[in-house]
Amino acid sequence: MNNTELHDLALIKGTPLMVIDHARIRQNFQDFRRMLPRVFPYFAIKANPEVQIARTLAREGSGFDIASWEEFTILRRALQGNKSQKWRFLNSKVIYANTIKNIESLDKMREYSIPMTFDNPAELDKIAAHCNNLPLILRIDVPNHGSVVELSSKFGARYEDCQSLLKHADQLHLHVIGVSFHVGSQCEDPHNFVAAFERARQVFDDAKHAGHELSLLDIGGGFPAPYSPGIQPFAAYAAMINSLIDKYFPSDTISIVAEPGRYFVATAATSIASVIGKSIRDGKPYYYINDGVYHTFSGFIYDHIQYHFKAFHNGKAVPSVVAGPTCDALDTISRDELLPDLAIGDLVYSDYTGAYTNASASNFNGFPPAKIAHINVNN
Ligand SMILES: Cc1ncc(COP(=O)(O)O)c(C=O)c1O
Repeated sequence: MNNTELHDLALIKGTPLMVIDHARIRQNFQDFRRMLPRVFPYFAIKANPEVQIARTLAREGSGFDIASWEEFTILRRALQGNKSQKWRFLNSKVIYANTIKNIESLDKMREYSIPMTFDNPAELDKIAAHCNNLPLILRIDVPNHGSVVELSSKFGARYEDCQSLLKHADQLHLHVIGVSFHVGSQCEDPHNFVAAFERARQVFDDAKHAGHELSLLDIGGGFPAPYSPGIQPFAAYAAMINSLIDKYFPSDTISIVAEPGRYFVATAATSIASVIGKSIRDGKPYYYINDGVYHTFSGFIYDHIQYHFKAFHNGKAVPSVVAGPTCDALDTISRDELLPDLAIGDLVYSDYTGAYTNASASNFNGFPPAKIAHINVNN
């Protein structure tokens, strides 16, 4: 969609507006499949829980990573077809990739055969008591250096604990099928994957010595969006991962899967907001817009992403501040945007807002989250 079409759509639908382009989601999915032919992707619904996105990806053939029973419900709403087709889909294309699951969710998952991750003995005890029939995946701790969202301080078993965890699972008659890791979200250093593959290989080998034949490697997410120049393209990550697979997991008796969230959706959305106020503070133009850090740009806080803004008209661009509509100074999205002079009512837009944005938006101060327009939907 070009700028004029985007502007017109915002005038028709009203702002704040997020435009999600499903053609781009399909393209991202297809690029992933083409460039990582041995890796089957499970879209991490947490990145963007819109039902229409799950529907588009399900039609493309994607699997899904859920972090909660509630995300599982979103997926069920997205699926089309008869009851038995949906049942088959849910039991073959879902991973429950949250190492901490509440008891209510475990009880409900019991009727499915969906693999679940774990990284500690208390979780194994809970699983044994509430749904001991499900296949399990041991999440291991791997370096997250240079990743914008660090996960390893909270998740992943330490290497030295892995064998005792596998033994504990054995004693509880639980079935561990594989190993997973996550290099951190928005991983800007592809070399993190090197350390992660090495560690996963060690865990596979140790397990084999102890009599466990593991058959699945889950390489998580982390594939970055091009929020700023200098971030290597997906192709560079794919080339490195393909060579790591050839080196450490050449046998095709091992299934390799991933949990991409951001990569599928970040580049598929553009957010448009209206200027609702303006002032000059310390000599700098301040533009107050009707979307902010408590809303679409929540990723500024939770996801540590700096979003950028563009105007729909040209003019002499000067460093400007862009802030949200709420009564909180924290609600300042950017302190340094090069923007032409903007009038009240002018529109601004921000690209690459599809991941971890609407997912964590609130209605703080009574302002509702942005409306969402889905374009190029095929289903
Ligand atoms: C367990 C797990 N899997 C997958 C993802 C998705 O990661 P990304 O959006 O970096 O692809 C996350 C993100 O936090 C996660 O915690």
